[in-house]
Amino acid sequence: MGQSVLTPMVAFDRRGGELHCGDVPLATLAERFETPLYVYNLAAVEARVRGFQEAFGELDFVLAYAVKANGNLAVLNRIAGLGAGADIVSGGELQRALRAGIVPERIFFAGVGKRREEMESGIRAGIGAFHVESEGELRLLAQVAEEIGVPAPIAVRINPDILSPAFHEYTQTGHASSKFGIPPEVARELYSWAHRHPFLRVRGIAVHIGSQILDPAPYLESLDSVLALVEELGADGIRLEYLDLGGGFGVGYEGDPGLAPRDLAMAILPRLRSKGLTLVLEPGRTIVGEAGVLLTRVLQVKRSGGKVFVVTDGGMTELLRPSHYGGFHRVEPVVLQEDRPEERVDVVGPVCETGDFLARDRVLSLPRPGELLAVRTAGAYGFSMASNYNARCRPAEVVVDGSRVHLARRRETHEDLVRGESIPRWTAAADG
Ligand code: LLP
Repeated sequence: MGQSVLTPMVAFDRRGGELHCGDVPLATLAERFETPLYVYNLAAVEARVRGFQEAFGELDFVLAYAVKANGNLAVLNRIAGLGAGADIVSGGELQRALRAGIVPERIFFAGVGKRREEMESGIRAGIGAFHVESEGELRLLAQVAEEIGVPAPIAVRINPDILSPAFHEYTQTGHASSKFGIPPEVARELYSWAHRHPFLRVRGIAVHIGSQILDPAPYLESLDSVLALVEELGADGIRLEYLDLGGGFGVGYEGDPGLAPRDLAMAILPRLRSKGLTLVLEPGRTIVGEAGVLLTRVLQVKRSGGKVFVVTDGGMTELLRPSHYGGFHRVEPVVLQEDRPEERVDVVGPVCETGDFLARDRVLSLPRPGELLAVRTAGAYGFSMASNYNARCRPAEVVVDGSRVHLARRRETHEDLVRGESIPRWTAAADG
């Protein structure tokens, strides 16, 4: 644990040519729970949470884990047990976080489109704050709080107009033309209105500039812009309790180290020491990304049009990132086989879309049908973005800690897929 800050613990390693999660060979998990299968190493998740807590320990610090990255209850519960909070974006995520044991006061509700019912359930649950993204939302929240008779805690999410160096434009959120946040000048007016409102309680300020950011510099830029506003608010007589710098810390999809919490801490702590603010961070990917793999079995090896397609039982329905963002994930054989030729292949799923692939143009030691592949760094935005397209059952999720194994979510069944559907009597009437 002590070394977690500098060298995050390895979540998956090879022993005798076989990829393991903790002490458990991945091949035995695939045998037992079938494929496609998500496997998460809980000890690795814990080490990453602790890495942040140690790096920022000198400040009053709250890690608000971004539930959207991986909302599995077993994963959330482990994170909750470490005293962490949650960054949520829906009533559904609120329920998950509460059910997993996350303390309501450490839950922060983000998102540009919160519904009235979601506001109500957040207020009633006693969450830490709503991160408000528009004037309309602030007014609605005040109204809902007044109706319930309980003041709503708030922070305004600032749009600092920074174009973060993200890997895909879809994961940039801090530039002026994105739908997220409010420009600082407008935010100042909203704060002053909220400050005087009897059913709003101003608590903090929030910002989030994007995702998969590997360099501390944009965070500094974003921090400076937020701190400037904190100062102006102070002059207006509005004192804040916390500053939430968001998430987005990059991981090493190609096996590189990613952005270490300590490097981020070294960059931003000097600016924050004297401010008397609690620091909130909302990491998602960097907590769970490397702690998860998607296991998939090779169904066919197909040569066609001068290409080699390795057809697997997992595809875009299990892991959307390659297809949606051109995201890169390492693909490795679970059990190393000698004497296999290396070939340039596309690893594709069974879904009826040309865009259904896990890897393209990848040199791989050629697997055979029936063999297992591990898609690495799939713990974040893997299962959470999975779909039922092509009437496919979403995969099972297994958590491992050392030699212990737990089925955290069973595989969906065909029955699950039609639950809640019905055929109208008036078209199905078969009495003629
Ligand atoms: N806080 C806010 C307000 C966010 O919008 C997000 C992510 C996070 C925190 C956590 O970001 P993280 O630390 O996980 O990068 N589906 C995409 C990523 C979308 C991120 C959306 N917001 C992907 O698969 O790369």
